[in-house]
Amino acid sequence: MSVRKAVIPAAGLGTRFLPATLALPKELLPLDRKPAIHWVVEEAIGAGLETIVLVLARGKESLLHYFMGNPNLKGRKLDGRLAQWVDAVAQLRSRVELVAVYQEEALGLGHAVLQARSVVGDDPCAVLLPDDHFLPSPLPELVTGHTEKGLGGVALRKVTPAEVTRYGIVGIRQAAPPHFLLDAAVEKPPLVDAPSDMAIMGRYVLPAGFMRRLAEGRPGALGEIQITDSLHAEASQKGLYGFHFTGTFLDLGTWEGYLEANVRMAGGTPDLTARLSKALVNPVGIAPTT
Ligand code: G1P
Repeated sequence: MSVRKAVIPAAGLGTRFLPATLALPKELLPLDRKPAIHWVVEEAIGAGLETIVLVLARGKESLLHYFMGNPNLKGRKLDGRLAQWVDAVAQLRSRVELVAVYQEEALGLGHAVLQARSVVGDDPCAVLLPDDHFLPSPLPELVTGHTEKGLGGVALRKVTPAEVTRYGIVGIRQAAPPHFLLDAAVEKPPLVDAPSDMAIMGRYVLPAGFMRRLAEGRPGALGEIQITDSLHAEASQKGLYGFHFTGTFLDLGTWEGYLEANVRMAGGTPDLTARLSKALVNPVGIAPTT
Protein backbone atom coordinates (compact mmCIF):
# COMPACT_ATOMS: atom_id res chain seq x y z
CA MET A 1 0.00 0.00 0.00
CA SER A 2 1.41 3.41 -0.94
CA VAL A 3 2.06 6.22 1.54
CA ARG A 4 -0.69 8.84 1.32
CA LYS A 5 -0.89 10.26 4.83
CA ALA A 6 1.46 12.36 6.90
CA VAL A 7 1.60 13.23 10.58
CA ILE A 8 3.17 16.49 11.74
CA PRO A 9 3.68 16.57 15.50
CA ALA A 10 3.33 20.21 16.62
CA ALA A 11 2.17 19.92 20.21
CA GLY A 12 5.44 20.93 21.92
CA LEU A 13 5.56 23.87 24.32
CA GLY A 14 8.54 25.38 22.53
CA THR A 15 10.27 26.20 25.81
CA ARG A 16 13.60 26.86 24.10
CA PHE A 17 11.91 29.76 22.33
CA LEU A 18 10.39 31.46 25.36
CA PRO A 19 9.16 34.12 25.80
CA ALA A 20 7.84 34.27 22.17
CA THR A 21 6.18 30.86 22.64
CA LEU A 22 4.09 32.14 25.56
CA ALA A 23 1.65 33.21 22.87
CA LEU A 24 3.00 31.96 19.52
CA PRO A 25 3.47 28.34 18.39
CA LYS A 26 7.15 27.79 17.64
CA GLU A 27 6.15 26.29 14.28
CA LEU A 28 4.90 29.70 13.15
CA LEU A 29 8.32 31.29 13.50
CA PRO A 30 9.55 32.00 9.98
CA LEU A 31 12.50 30.49 8.19
CA ASP A 32 13.17 32.82 5.27
CA ARG A 33 9.59 34.20 5.15
CA LYS A 34 7.74 30.92 5.46
CA PRO A 35 6.84 29.58 8.92
CA ALA A 36 8.30 26.16 9.73
CA ILE A 37 4.80 24.65 9.47
CA HIS A 38 4.48 25.96 5.90
CA TRP A 39 7.77 24.32 4.92
CA VAL A 40 6.79 20.88 6.23
CA VAL A 41 3.27 20.95 4.77
CA GLU A 42 4.77 21.96 1.42
CA GLU A 43 7.35 19.18 1.73
CA ALA A 44 4.69 16.57 2.48
CA ILE A 45 2.63 17.67 -0.53
CA GLY A 46 5.78 17.58 -2.66
CA ALA A 47 6.26 13.93 -1.66
CA GLY A 48 2.77 13.12 -2.95
CA LEU A 49 0.97 12.95 0.39
CA GLU A 50 -2.73 13.75 0.37
CA THR A 51 -3.84 13.90 4.00
CA ILE A 52 -1.91 15.68 6.72
CA VAL A 53 -2.65 15.27 10.41
CA LEU A 54 -1.42 18.14 12.58
CA VAL A 55 -0.98 17.05 16.19
CA LEU A 56 -1.68 20.13 18.29
CA ALA A 57 -1.76 21.11 21.95
CA ARG A 58 -4.46 23.39 23.30
CA GLY A 59 -3.68 26.99 22.41
CA LYS A 60 -1.86 26.11 19.18
CA GLU A 61 -4.91 26.41 16.91
CA SER A 62 -3.28 29.29 15.04
CA LEU A 63 -1.25 26.62 13.22
CA LEU A 64 -4.48 25.58 11.56
CA HIS A 65 -5.66 29.17 11.13
CA TYR A 66 -2.49 29.88 9.15
CA PHE A 67 -3.80 27.69 6.35
CA MET A 68 -7.32 29.13 6.47
CA GLY A 69 -6.40 32.59 5.19
CA ASN A 70 -7.33 35.84 6.89
CA PRO A 71 -10.75 37.33 6.05
CA ASN A 72 -9.46 40.76 7.15
CA LEU A 73 -7.18 40.75 4.11
CA LYS A 74 -10.12 40.27 1.69
CA GLY A 75 -10.45 43.14 -0.75
CA ARG A 76 -7.23 44.67 0.47
CA LYS A 77 -4.73 45.75 -2.18
CA LEU A 78 -1.42 44.03 -1.50
CA ASP A 79 1.96 44.54 -3.07
CA GLY A 80 2.43 41.85 -5.78
CA ARG A 81 5.08 39.85 -3.93
CA LEU A 82 3.06 39.83 -0.70
CA ALA A 83 -0.09 38.81 -2.58
CA GLN A 84 1.90 35.89 -4.02
CA TRP A 85 2.86 34.70 -0.55
CA VAL A 86 -0.75 34.79 0.61
CA ASP A 87 -1.79 32.99 -2.55
CA ALA A 88 0.89 30.32 -2.03
CA VAL A 89 -0.65 29.44 1.33
CA ALA A 90 -4.14 29.21 -0.22
CA GLN A 91 -2.69 26.96 -2.95
CA LEU A 92 -1.18 24.63 -0.37
CA ARG A 93 -4.47 24.44 1.48
CA SER A 94 -6.34 23.50 -1.68
CA ARG A 95 -3.97 20.62 -2.44
CA VAL A 96 -4.29 18.68 0.79
CA GLU A 97 -6.76 17.50 3.39
CA LEU A 98 -5.64 19.00 6.69
CA VAL A 99 -6.87 17.38 9.88
CA ALA A 100 -6.10 18.50 13.44
CA VAL A 101 -5.96 16.20 16.46
CA TYR A 102 -4.91 16.98 20.01
CA GLN A 103 -2.25 15.59 22.28
CA GLU A 104 -3.67 16.47 25.67
CA GLU A 105 -0.63 15.47 27.72
CA ALA A 106 3.03 15.86 26.80
CA LEU A 107 3.93 12.16 27.03
CA GLY A 108 6.51 12.02 24.25
CA LEU A 109 6.90 11.91 20.48
CA GLY A 110 5.56 8.34 20.15
CA HIS A 111 2.45 9.37 22.08
CA ALA A 112 2.04 12.50 19.90
CA VAL A 113 2.12 10.44 16.69
CA LEU A 114 -0.30 7.92 18.22
CA GLN A 115 -2.91 10.68 18.53
CA ALA A 116 -3.22 10.55 14.72
CA ARG A 117 -4.38 6.92 14.88
CA SER A 118 -8.05 7.74 14.23
CA VAL A 119 -7.03 9.17 10.83
CA VAL A 120 -4.08 6.93 9.95
CA GLY A 121 -5.56 3.62 11.14
CA ASP A 122 -3.43 0.71 9.91
CA ASP A 123 -2.16 2.59 6.85
CA PRO A 124 1.48 3.52 6.38
CA CYS A 125 2.24 7.19 7.02
CA ALA A 126 5.03 9.71 6.87
CA VAL A 127 6.08 11.72 9.92
CA LEU A 128 7.72 15.12 9.56
CA LEU A 129 9.21 16.97 12.53
CA PRO A 130 9.06 20.72 11.82
CA ASP A 131 12.25 21.36 13.85
CA ASP A 132 14.38 19.56 11.27
CA HIS A 133 14.79 21.25 7.90
CA PHE A 134 16.37 19.54 4.91
CA LEU A 135 17.47 20.74 1.50
CA PRO A 136 16.51 18.73 -0.46
CA SER A 137 13.83 16.72 1.30
CA PRO A 138 14.78 13.10 2.05
CA LEU A 139 11.10 12.12 2.18
CA PRO A 140 10.77 10.98 -1.48
CA GLU A 141 13.64 8.51 -0.85
CA LEU A 142 11.81 7.10 2.17
CA VAL A 143 8.55 6.81 0.25
CA THR A 144 10.35 5.03 -2.62
CA GLY A 145 12.16 2.80 -0.09
CA HIS A 146 8.80 1.82 1.36
CA THR A 147 7.30 1.10 -2.06
CA GLU A 148 10.27 -0.95 -3.26
CA LYS A 149 11.27 -2.77 -0.08
CA GLY A 150 8.00 -2.77 1.83
CA LEU A 151 9.83 -1.40 4.87
CA GLY A 152 9.37 1.58 7.14
CA GLY A 153 12.21 4.06 6.87
CA VAL A 154 14.06 6.88 8.56
CA ALA A 155 16.34 9.66 7.38
CA LEU A 156 19.85 9.34 8.81
CA ARG A 157 22.66 11.81 9.39
CA LYS A 158 26.18 11.06 10.55
CA VAL A 159 26.67 12.86 13.86
CA THR A 160 29.66 13.80 16.00
CA PRO A 161 30.27 12.02 19.35
CA ALA A 162 28.99 15.15 21.13
CA GLU A 163 25.68 14.98 19.23
CA VAL A 164 24.94 11.29 19.90
CA THR A 165 23.04 11.90 23.16
CA ARG A 166 20.60 14.30 21.40
CA TYR A 167 19.21 11.81 18.88
CA GLY A 168 17.86 8.36 18.23
CA ILE A 169 20.84 6.27 17.05
CA VAL A 170 20.49 3.25 14.75
CA GLY A 171 22.14 -0.14 14.50
CA ILE A 172 23.19 -1.09 10.96
CA ARG A 173 22.78 -4.58 9.52
CA GLN A 174 23.72 -3.88 5.91
CA ALA A 175 25.19 -0.80 4.25
CA ALA A 176 25.06 0.16 0.58
CA PRO A 177 25.40 3.95 1.02
CA PRO A 178 23.26 5.97 0.94
CA HIS A 179 20.92 3.00 1.58
CA PHE A 180 21.04 1.06 4.84
CA LEU A 181 19.19 -1.84 6.37
CA LEU A 182 18.76 -1.22 10.10
CA ASP A 183 18.21 -3.68 12.91
CA ALA A 184 18.15 -1.45 16.01
CA ALA A 185 17.31 2.04 17.26
CA VAL A 186 18.19 3.52 20.66
CA GLU A 187 16.86 6.84 21.94
CA LYS A 188 19.52 9.32 23.08
CA PRO A 189 22.06 6.72 24.26
CA PRO A 190 25.20 7.53 26.19
CA LEU A 191 28.11 7.53 23.71
CA VAL A 192 29.41 4.14 24.95
CA ASP A 193 26.06 2.47 24.19
CA ALA A 194 25.53 4.04 20.74
CA PRO A 195 25.28 1.28 18.11
CA SER A 196 26.69 3.59 15.39
CA ASP A 197 27.27 7.26 14.58
CA MET A 198 24.13 7.47 12.45
CA ALA A 199 21.26 9.49 13.94
CA ILE A 200 17.58 9.38 13.10
CA MET A 201 16.52 12.75 11.71
CA GLY A 202 12.98 14.10 11.71
CA ARG A 203 11.61 12.33 8.61
CA TYR A 204 10.07 8.88 8.90
CA VAL A 205 7.86 6.51 6.96
CA LEU A 206 5.98 4.27 9.37
CA PRO A 207 4.83 1.00 7.80
CA ALA A 208 1.26 -0.34 7.87
CA GLY A 209 0.15 -1.35 11.35
CA PHE A 210 2.76 0.76 13.14
CA MET A 211 0.12 2.54 15.23
CA ARG A 212 -0.51 -0.77 16.97
CA ARG A 213 3.14 -0.88 18.01
CA LEU A 214 2.93 2.69 19.29
CA ALA A 215 -0.20 1.86 21.28
CA GLU A 216 1.79 -0.81 23.11
CA GLY A 217 4.61 1.67 23.82
CA ARG A 218 5.74 2.12 27.40
CA PRO A 219 7.66 5.10 28.77
CA GLY A 220 11.33 4.87 27.78
CA ALA A 221 14.12 7.48 27.71
CA LEU A 222 13.21 10.63 29.72
CA GLY A 223 10.09 8.81 30.96
CA GLU A 224 8.38 9.49 27.62
CA ILE A 225 6.75 7.20 25.04
CA GLN A 226 9.43 7.26 22.38
CA ILE A 227 8.81 6.55 18.70
CA THR A 228 12.38 5.20 18.67
CA ASP A 229 11.43 2.27 20.93
CA SER A 230 8.69 1.18 18.50
CA LEU A 231 11.12 1.67 15.61
CA HIS A 232 13.54 -0.62 17.44
CA ALA A 233 10.87 -3.34 17.65
CA GLU A 234 10.13 -2.86 13.93
CA ALA A 235 13.84 -2.87 12.98
CA SER A 236 14.71 -5.97 15.00
CA GLN A 237 11.66 -7.98 13.86
CA LYS A 238 11.12 -6.87 10.24
CA GLY A 239 13.99 -4.52 9.40
CA LEU A 240 13.94 -0.79 8.77
CA TYR A 241 15.24 1.17 5.80
CA GLY A 242 17.66 4.03 6.45
CA PHE A 243 18.49 6.73 3.94
CA HIS A 244 21.71 8.60 4.65
CA PHE A 245 20.96 12.26 4.02
CA THR A 246 24.01 14.24 2.91
CA GLY A 247 22.36 17.50 1.81
CA THR A 248 21.96 20.63 3.92
CA PHE A 249 20.47 20.14 7.35
CA LEU A 250 19.21 23.10 9.38
CA ASP A 251 18.31 22.67 13.03
CA LEU A 252 15.31 24.83 13.91
CA GLY A 253 14.98 23.20 17.33
CA THR A 254 17.34 25.54 19.16
CA TRP A 255 17.47 29.33 19.19
CA GLU A 256 21.06 29.37 17.93
CA GLY A 257 20.29 26.87 15.16
CA TYR A 258 17.21 28.86 14.19
CA LEU A 259 19.18 32.11 13.84
CA GLU A 260 21.93 30.38 11.88
CA ALA A 261 19.35 28.75 9.59
CA ASN A 262 17.80 32.11 8.78
CA VAL A 263 21.18 33.64 8.00
CA ARG A 264 22.05 30.73 5.72
CA MET A 265 18.71 30.91 3.90
CA ALA A 266 19.00 34.68 3.45
CA GLY A 267 22.55 34.19 2.20
CA GLY A 268 21.13 32.86 -1.07
CA THR A 269 19.76 36.34 -1.89
CA PRO A 270 22.56 38.57 -3.28
CA ASP A 271 21.42 41.93 -1.84
CA LEU A 272 20.75 40.38 1.57
CA THR A 273 24.14 38.62 1.61
CA ALA A 274 25.97 41.94 1.55
CA ARG A 275 23.64 43.47 4.08
CA LEU A 276 23.85 40.54 6.51
CA SER A 277 27.64 40.20 6.21
CA LYS A 278 27.92 43.85 7.19
CA ALA A 279 25.42 43.40 10.02
CA LEU A 280 27.32 40.44 11.48
CA VAL A 281 30.51 42.46 11.93
CA ASN A 282 28.59 45.44 13.30
CA PRO A 283 26.68 44.04 16.25
CA VAL A 284 24.42 46.46 18.10
CA GLY A 285 26.08 48.01 21.13
CA ILE A 286 29.60 47.77 19.70
CA ALA A 287 31.16 50.61 17.68
CA PRO A 288 30.88 49.94 13.92
CA THR A 289 34.06 48.69 12.28
CA THR A 290 33.27 50.18 8.87
C1 G1P B 1 13.26 13.39 18.33
C2 G1P B 1 13.39 11.87 18.38
C3 G1P B 1 14.83 11.46 18.11
C4 G1P B 1 15.28 12.01 16.78
C5 G1P B 1 15.08 13.54 16.76
C6 G1P B 1 15.36 14.11 15.37
O1 G1P B 1 13.98 13.93 19.41
O2 G1P B 1 12.97 11.41 19.65
O3 G1P B 1 14.95 10.06 18.08
O4 G1P B 1 16.64 11.69 16.57
O5 G1P B 1 13.73 13.90 17.10
O6 G1P B 1 15.37 15.50 15.40
P1 G1P B 1 13.69 15.41 19.98
O7 G1P B 1 14.33 16.37 19.02
O8 G1P B 1 12.22 15.56 20.05
O9 G1P B 1 14.37 15.46 21.33
